[in-house]
Amino acid sequence: MDMSEAPRSHGDEVIVVARSGPLSGTVTVPGAKNSVLKLMAAALLADGTHLLTNVPVITDVEMMADLLRTLGVSITVHPTGTGETGQRLELVNTGAITPVAPFEQADRIRASVNLLGPLLSRFGEIEIGLPGGDDFGSRPIDMHLSGLEAMGAVFEVRPDCIVGRCDRLRGAEIEFGFPSVGATENILCAAVLADGTTVIRNAAREPEIVDLCAMLRRMGAHMDGEGTSTITVRGVVPGSLGPARHEVVTDRVQAATYIAAVGMCGGRVRIERAVADHMGVMLGRFTDMGLQIDTDEAGLTAACDRRLTSIDVATLPFPGVATDYKPLVVAMLSVADGTGIVTENLYPGRFRYVEELRKLGAGITIDGHHAVVRGVGHLTGARVDAPDIRAGAALVVAGLAASGITEIGEIHHIDRGYDDIVGRLAGLGAPISRESQAS
Ligand code: EPU
Repeated sequence: MDMSEAPRSHGDEVIVVARSGPLSGTVTVPGAKNSVLKLMAAALLADGTHLLTNVPVITDVEMMADLLRTLGVSITVHPTGTGETGQRLELVNTGAITPVAPFEQADRIRASVNLLGPLLSRFGEIEIGLPGGDDFGSRPIDMHLSGLEAMGAVFEVRPDCIVGRCDRLRGAEIEFGFPSVGATENILCAAVLADGTTVIRNAAREPEIVDLCAMLRRMGAHMDGEGTSTITVRGVVPGSLGPARHEVVTDRVQAATYIAAVGMCGGRVRIERAVADHMGVMLGRFTDMGLQIDTDEAGLTAACDRRLTSIDVATLPFPGVATDYKPLVVAMLSVADGTGIVTENLYPGRFRYVEELRKLGAGITIDGHHAVVRGVGHLTGARVDAPDIRAGAALVVAGLAASGITEIGEIHHIDRGYDDIVGRLAGLGAPISRESQAS
């Protein structure tokens, strides 16, 4: 495999950020981590050569590729060519798949749980190491399992893995207690080859779900309702799906990161390929904070010429403000005028990065699942560590507004989901670099 363009996280690297003046220029937003990983898993559903374009250069893609390779899929990564917006990934599924995902590999990424639906519906059995991912508290998979059980699967949960088997899955009526992104994706992938019709109620509506459905439809699946709370999938005969060519949807969280950077530093930046419809509520809240945002078909332009104003924000499933935006919002509020309250409704434990922001002088207190952020006049650079992907990006953005130097360690977390955040911000004029850590 040609991984010449792939990111390599080195434990001894840090991101070094100085205070930035106003940003200017154009940044092109890459494809979405939280879509591409599921699209890669969906390639298990049909034999042939699948082609994914606009694939972000991130380590989670490498890890998912390694995992799929272990199962028997051969994968070639074609580096971004002239005029292309991302890598191309060629996935060859010959049907000779061993449906066993070892714990050591599954534990490295949350999206390994997305193997459940495709492997069960296609091969009738699976052994999968318990999925890992960011550590922000308990991340159960009960809805994935009960949905698949309603379709006829039987599971045994062992200390480090899940073993599942089934005859051909049956269509079922499944109503989630909460619109889980991952569970919706697994049931979708299981339903496309099931016998009969599956109706998913209280389904997740995220743009990444719509993207997965677009690829499944290209493979020959029959469904409607994606993007709404009720998705209906009419199963097709196993073997009747074919390979797909599909362009990965734009990453709305990376897009929001560059908007947040404009909010922190001021300036005017063209954010190419951002899809305004995928971030409508968040864009409204950015505007409430004082950013000017003009949207069009090809992207958006974000500008800011004043100190941000504090707002209160609560995270919710799509179309609400996504939990993945939250660390960015907390970073912005830490220098905004006034006090803002941020309520986390998805992951109660997702406030670990607050301690790191405090090292920069942010005035944040946590009360249960609320963060109370008192804006300060300025942040001061310090050495901090990225606790997870989005929090790491928020620390980078905060560093742009801090006097002195901010050094961010543990950046392998950022590399999991951000395609060259340093190069992209530097391209907008930010004083930022990636350096070997002085020992
Ligand atoms: N939940 C359950 N039981 C389940 C499934 C979920 O209780 O069976 C709970 C979770 O514990 C959590 C909530 O439901 O409290 C939301 O979980 P969801 O299943 O919607 O999230 P996910 O599929 O595990 C994806 C993204 C996350 C993103 C969430 C919410 C991927 C690989 N991960 O996770 O992204 O925060 O949706 O939008 O797609 C990130 O990219 O940094 C990230 C963490």
